[in-house]
Amino acid sequence: MKALVVYSSLTGNTKAVAEAVAAGLGEAATLAPAAEAPGPEGFDIVVCCFWVDKGRADKASREYYGRLSSARTAICYTLGAYPDSEHADMVDARAREDLERNGNTVLGSFRSQGKVDPNLLELMKEKLPPDHPHAKMTRERRELLDEASLHPDAGDLKRARDFGSGLLALAG
Ligand SMILES: Cc1cc2nc3c(=O)[nH]c(=O)nc-3n(C[C@H](O)[C@H](O)[C@H](O)COP(=O)(O)O)c2cc1C
Repeated sequence: MKALVVYSSLTGNTKAVAEAVAAGLGEAATLAPAAEAPGPEGFDIVVCCFWVDKGRADKASREYYGRLSSARTAICYTLGAYPDSEHADMVDARAREDLERNGNTVLGSFRSQGKVDPNLLELMKEKLPPDHPHAKMTRERRELLDEASLHPDAGDLKRARDFGSGLLALAG
């Protein structure tokens, strides 16, 4: 069994999670950033690890999906929103759609909250119209961002590692 773990990460959250998934896969895993990743040929499963950008997989990851057809895949992502939110479910559905459109199958999915770059928050405050939900700092939003700032934590990385080991059985 050979697994390719492809990741894209701006600020390191997804990279850390992808590394944990690869550790769970053990010797079966090859870990590569999306921009430098090999094609899927010769791998039994491709684990696509992306960060969420405006409600969907980031651009570099989606570009990599263009190289996948009829492959066995799994998805793995980090996002600012709560993992049990409708937003996270929507991201999941979109990523599955993107992959399944080209005949790929999605064998599993992993998600973790990830700290949001403070520079992005500043930028949103400056650039967005004042009535935009992301321009305002409500109590709920502060709580969400405070929680996100703690992730991925040791528990998330342990879950990611277990997810990787679980894929060994699924794709082996
Ligand atoms: C430009 C930009 C857009 C983002 N859009 C979303 C989003 O739509 N939903 C969300 O939950 N998080 C969003 N985030 C938060 C990131 O997905 C989250 O912080 C992620 O863990 C970053 O991963 P990385 O450290 O691997 O880059 C966004 C972050 C950036 C920088």
